[in-house]
Amino acid sequence: MQQQWSAVDNYLVEALIPNDPLLNQVLENNQRAGLPAIDVSPMQGQLLALLVRMVRARRILEIGTLGGYSTLWMARELPVNGELLTLEAEPLHAAIARENLHFAGVANLVTVAEGPALQTLENLGGRPPFDLIFIDADKPNNPSYLKWALHYSRPGTLIIGDNVVRNGEVTNPTTTDASVQGVRKFIDMLGNDPRLTVTAMQTVGVKGWDGFTLAWVNAI
Ligand code: SAH
Ligand code: DHB
Ligand code: MG
Repeated sequence: MQQQWSAVDNYLVEALIPNDPLLNQVLENNQRAGLPAIDVSPMQGQLLALLVRMVRARRILEIGTLGGYSTLWMARELPVNGELLTLEAEPLHAAIARENLHFAGVANLVTVAEGPALQTLENLGGRPPFDLIFIDADKPNNPSYLKWALHYSRPGTLIIGDNVVRNGEVTNPTTTDASVQGVRKFIDMLGNDPRLTVTAMQTVGVKGWDGFTLAWVNAI
Protein backbone atom coordinates (compact mmCIF):
# COMPACT_ATOMS: atom_id res chain seq x y z
CA MET A 1 0.00 0.00 0.00
CA GLN A 2 2.72 2.49 0.93
CA GLN A 3 4.00 2.56 -2.64
CA GLN A 4 0.55 3.44 -3.97
CA TRP A 5 -0.07 6.02 -1.26
CA SER A 6 3.22 7.71 -2.16
CA ALA A 7 2.55 7.51 -5.90
CA VAL A 8 -0.84 9.22 -5.49
CA ASP A 9 0.57 11.82 -3.11
CA ASN A 10 3.38 12.60 -5.56
CA TYR A 11 0.94 12.76 -8.47
CA LEU A 12 -1.30 15.20 -6.59
CA VAL A 13 1.62 17.34 -5.47
CA GLU A 14 2.89 17.50 -9.03
CA ALA A 15 -0.55 18.42 -10.33
CA LEU A 16 -1.57 20.90 -7.65
CA ILE A 17 1.35 22.44 -5.80
CA PRO A 18 3.64 24.88 -7.61
CA ASN A 19 7.25 23.74 -7.44
CA ASP A 20 8.99 25.90 -4.88
CA PRO A 21 12.80 26.08 -4.81
CA LEU A 22 12.78 27.72 -1.35
CA LEU A 23 10.82 24.90 0.28
CA ASN A 24 12.91 22.28 -1.53
CA GLN A 25 16.10 24.00 -0.37
CA VAL A 26 14.89 23.89 3.25
CA LEU A 27 14.39 20.12 3.03
CA GLU A 28 17.82 19.77 1.46
CA ASN A 29 19.44 21.84 4.21
CA ASN A 30 17.69 19.74 6.87
CA GLN A 31 18.91 16.53 5.28
CA ARG A 32 22.47 17.83 5.01
CA ALA A 33 22.37 18.75 8.71
CA GLY A 34 21.15 15.25 9.60
CA LEU A 35 17.69 16.27 10.84
CA PRO A 36 15.07 13.49 10.82
CA ALA A 37 12.79 13.69 7.74
CA ILE A 38 9.58 14.01 9.75
CA ASP A 39 8.48 17.39 8.44
CA VAL A 40 4.93 17.75 7.20
CA SER A 41 4.51 16.59 3.60
CA PRO A 42 4.07 19.20 0.84
CA MET A 43 0.33 18.47 0.74
CA GLN A 44 0.07 18.93 4.50
CA GLY A 45 2.15 22.09 4.29
CA GLN A 46 -0.22 23.51 1.72
CA LEU A 47 -3.15 22.60 3.97
CA LEU A 48 -1.53 24.48 6.87
CA ALA A 49 -1.00 27.45 4.56
CA LEU A 50 -4.64 27.39 3.48
CA LEU A 51 -5.82 27.18 7.09
CA VAL A 52 -3.68 30.20 8.02
CA ARG A 53 -5.24 32.04 5.09
CA MET A 54 -8.79 30.91 5.86
CA VAL A 55 -8.76 32.03 9.49
CA ARG A 56 -6.81 35.17 8.52
CA ALA A 57 -4.30 34.33 11.22
CA ARG A 58 -2.00 37.15 12.30
CA ARG A 59 -0.52 35.42 15.35
CA ILE A 60 0.58 31.79 15.11
CA LEU A 61 2.08 29.42 17.70
CA GLU A 62 3.89 26.28 16.55
CA ILE A 63 5.07 23.66 19.04
CA GLY A 64 7.84 21.60 17.37
CA THR A 65 9.92 23.45 14.75
CA LEU A 66 12.41 20.87 13.44
CA GLY A 67 14.08 22.68 10.48
CA GLY A 68 11.24 25.14 10.01
CA TYR A 69 9.60 23.52 6.97
CA SER A 70 6.04 23.68 8.35
CA THR A 71 6.97 27.06 9.85
CA LEU A 72 7.78 28.41 6.40
CA TRP A 73 4.54 27.14 4.88
CA MET A 74 2.60 29.05 7.55
CA ALA A 75 4.80 32.15 7.87
CA ARG A 76 4.48 32.92 4.17
CA GLU A 77 0.75 33.40 4.64
CA LEU A 78 1.13 36.00 7.38
CA PRO A 79 0.48 39.68 6.77
CA VAL A 80 3.47 42.04 7.14
CA ASN A 81 2.52 42.73 10.76
CA GLY A 82 2.10 39.00 11.51
CA GLU A 83 4.01 36.95 14.08
CA LEU A 84 4.86 33.29 14.35
CA LEU A 85 6.38 31.88 17.54
CA THR A 86 7.79 28.38 17.14
CA LEU A 87 9.15 26.25 19.99
CA GLU A 88 12.06 23.82 19.62
CA ALA A 89 14.02 21.92 22.26
CA GLU A 90 16.96 20.73 20.15
CA PRO A 91 19.63 23.43 19.70
CA LEU A 92 20.72 22.01 16.33
CA HIS A 93 17.14 21.97 15.01
CA ALA A 94 16.58 25.54 16.24
CA ALA A 95 19.83 26.71 14.61
CA ILE A 96 19.03 25.12 11.25
CA ALA A 97 15.48 26.48 11.40
CA ARG A 98 16.75 30.01 12.03
CA GLU A 99 19.11 29.70 9.07
CA ASN A 100 16.36 28.35 6.84
CA LEU A 101 13.85 31.01 7.84
CA HIS A 102 16.39 33.75 7.33
CA PHE A 103 17.31 32.36 3.92
CA ALA A 104 13.62 32.12 3.02
CA GLY A 105 13.04 35.77 3.92
CA VAL A 106 10.56 35.30 6.78
CA ALA A 107 12.94 35.70 9.74
CA ASN A 108 11.39 39.08 10.55
CA LEU A 109 8.02 37.39 11.18
CA VAL A 110 9.27 34.33 13.09
CA THR A 111 10.78 33.78 16.53
CA VAL A 112 12.36 30.40 17.19
CA ALA A 113 12.25 29.90 20.97
CA GLU A 114 14.87 27.36 21.96
CA GLY A 115 14.22 25.08 24.93
CA PRO A 116 11.66 22.56 26.14
CA ALA A 117 8.28 23.82 24.94
CA LEU A 118 6.63 23.43 28.34
CA GLN A 119 9.19 25.77 29.90
CA THR A 120 8.74 28.34 27.17
CA LEU A 121 4.95 28.12 27.42
CA GLU A 122 5.07 28.63 31.19
CA ASN A 123 7.16 31.77 30.73
CA LEU A 124 5.38 33.47 27.83
CA GLY A 125 3.57 35.74 30.26
CA GLY A 126 0.63 37.95 29.44
CA ARG A 127 0.25 38.28 25.71
CA PRO A 128 -2.53 38.50 23.17
CA PRO A 129 -4.04 35.14 22.19
CA PHE A 130 -2.90 33.21 19.13
CA ASP A 131 -5.19 32.84 16.11
CA LEU A 132 -3.81 29.44 15.06
CA ILE A 133 -1.79 26.87 17.00
CA PHE A 134 0.00 23.88 15.45
CA ILE A 135 0.96 21.14 17.94
CA ASP A 136 3.70 18.93 16.44
CA ALA A 137 6.40 18.17 19.02
CA ASP A 138 6.88 15.30 21.50
CA LYS A 139 3.56 13.47 21.59
CA PRO A 140 3.71 12.34 25.26
CA ASN A 141 3.32 16.03 26.17
CA ASN A 142 0.31 16.60 23.90
CA PRO A 143 -2.13 16.80 26.84
CA SER A 144 -0.06 19.60 28.42
CA TYR A 145 0.34 21.32 25.07
CA LEU A 146 -3.42 21.33 24.65
CA LYS A 147 -3.87 22.95 28.07
CA TRP A 148 -1.41 25.67 27.15
CA ALA A 149 -2.93 26.05 23.70
CA LEU A 150 -6.29 26.75 25.31
CA HIS A 151 -4.63 29.15 27.74
CA TYR A 152 -3.33 31.19 24.81
CA SER A 153 -6.52 30.93 22.72
CA ARG A 154 -9.55 33.12 22.14
CA PRO A 155 -12.94 32.18 20.73
CA GLY A 156 -12.18 31.50 17.07
CA THR A 157 -8.66 30.15 17.57
CA LEU A 158 -7.90 27.06 15.48
CA ILE A 159 -5.83 24.33 17.18
CA ILE A 160 -4.27 21.69 14.89
CA GLY A 161 -2.69 18.48 16.20
CA ASP A 162 -0.39 16.41 13.96
CA ASN A 163 0.25 12.65 14.04
CA VAL A 164 -2.82 11.42 15.87
CA VAL A 165 -3.32 8.09 14.08
CA ARG A 166 0.12 6.50 14.22
CA ASN A 167 -0.56 3.57 11.87
CA GLY A 168 -3.83 2.90 13.66
CA GLU A 169 -2.12 2.30 16.99
CA VAL A 170 -4.23 5.15 18.42
CA THR A 171 -7.12 2.69 18.89
CA ASN A 172 -5.09 0.50 21.25
CA PRO A 173 -6.17 1.28 24.84
CA THR A 174 -3.43 -0.90 26.34
CA THR A 175 -0.58 0.56 24.30
CA THR A 176 2.73 0.93 26.14
CA ASP A 177 3.93 3.57 23.66
CA ALA A 178 4.10 6.89 25.55
CA SER A 179 3.48 8.82 22.32
CA VAL A 180 0.30 6.90 21.61
CA GLN A 181 -0.79 7.29 25.24
CA GLY A 182 -0.21 11.04 24.91
CA VAL A 183 -2.21 11.21 21.71
CA ARG A 184 -5.08 9.15 23.21
CA LYS A 185 -5.28 11.48 26.21
CA PHE A 186 -5.13 14.46 23.84
CA ILE A 187 -8.05 13.11 21.80
CA ASP A 188 -9.99 12.34 24.98
CA MET A 189 -9.48 15.92 26.19
CA LEU A 190 -10.49 17.36 22.82
CA GLY A 191 -13.65 15.27 22.74
CA ASN A 192 -14.71 16.12 26.27
CA ASP A 193 -14.12 19.86 26.21
CA PRO A 194 -17.42 21.67 25.58
CA ARG A 195 -15.45 24.77 24.48
CA LEU A 196 -14.21 22.94 21.37
CA THR A 197 -15.67 21.71 18.08
CA VAL A 198 -13.35 19.02 16.79
CA THR A 199 -12.77 16.77 13.83
CA ALA A 200 -9.94 14.40 12.93
CA MET A 201 -8.87 13.20 9.51
CA GLN A 202 -6.92 10.05 8.77
CA THR A 203 -4.32 10.56 6.07
CA VAL A 204 -2.30 8.28 3.81
CA GLY A 205 0.53 9.45 1.60
CA VAL A 206 4.28 9.82 1.58
CA LYS A 207 4.26 9.80 5.40
CA GLY A 208 2.36 6.53 5.67
CA TRP A 209 -0.92 6.21 7.59
CA ASP A 210 -1.46 8.98 10.09
CA GLY A 211 -3.83 11.87 10.70
CA PHE A 212 -4.50 15.22 12.30
CA THR A 213 -7.08 16.91 14.51
CA LEU A 214 -8.70 20.27 13.87
CA ALA A 215 -10.24 21.98 16.89
CA TRP A 216 -12.14 25.25 16.80
CA VAL A 217 -12.31 27.16 20.07
CA ASN A 218 -15.96 28.24 20.49
CA ALA A 219 -15.53 29.85 23.86
CA ILE A 220 -12.89 30.30 26.53
N1 SAH B 1 6.69 20.89 12.63
C1 SAH B 1 7.88 20.33 11.98
C2 SAH B 1 8.17 18.93 12.49
C3 SAH B 1 8.41 18.87 13.96
S1 SAH B 1 9.16 17.33 14.44
C4 SAH B 1 7.61 20.24 10.48
O1 SAH B 1 6.55 19.72 10.11
O2 SAH B 1 8.45 20.69 9.69
C5 SAH B 1 9.09 17.49 16.17
C6 SAH B 1 10.09 18.48 16.74
O3 SAH B 1 9.75 18.65 18.12
C7 SAH B 1 11.54 17.99 16.70
O4 SAH B 1 12.37 18.96 16.10
C8 SAH B 1 11.91 17.83 18.16
O5 SAH B 1 13.25 18.16 18.46
C9 SAH B 1 10.95 18.80 18.83
N2 SAH B 1 10.72 18.50 20.26
C10 SAH B 1 10.70 17.30 20.87
N3 SAH B 1 10.46 17.45 22.18
C11 SAH B 1 10.31 18.77 22.40
C12 SAH B 1 10.04 19.56 23.54
N4 SAH B 1 9.86 19.02 24.74
N5 SAH B 1 9.96 20.90 23.39
C13 SAH B 1 10.13 21.46 22.18
N6 SAH B 1 10.38 20.78 21.07
C14 SAH B 1 10.47 19.46 21.16
C1 DHB C 1 7.30 11.73 14.02
C2 DHB C 1 6.98 13.02 14.43
C3 DHB C 1 6.21 13.83 13.61
O1 DHB C 1 5.85 15.09 13.98
C4 DHB C 1 5.77 13.36 12.39
O2 DHB C 1 4.99 14.18 11.64
C5 DHB C 1 6.09 12.10 11.98
C6 DHB C 1 6.86 11.27 12.79
C7 DHB C 1 8.12 10.87 14.88
O3 DHB C 1 8.53 11.33 15.95
O4 DHB C 1 8.38 9.74 14.49
MG1 MG D 1 4.29 15.90 12.75
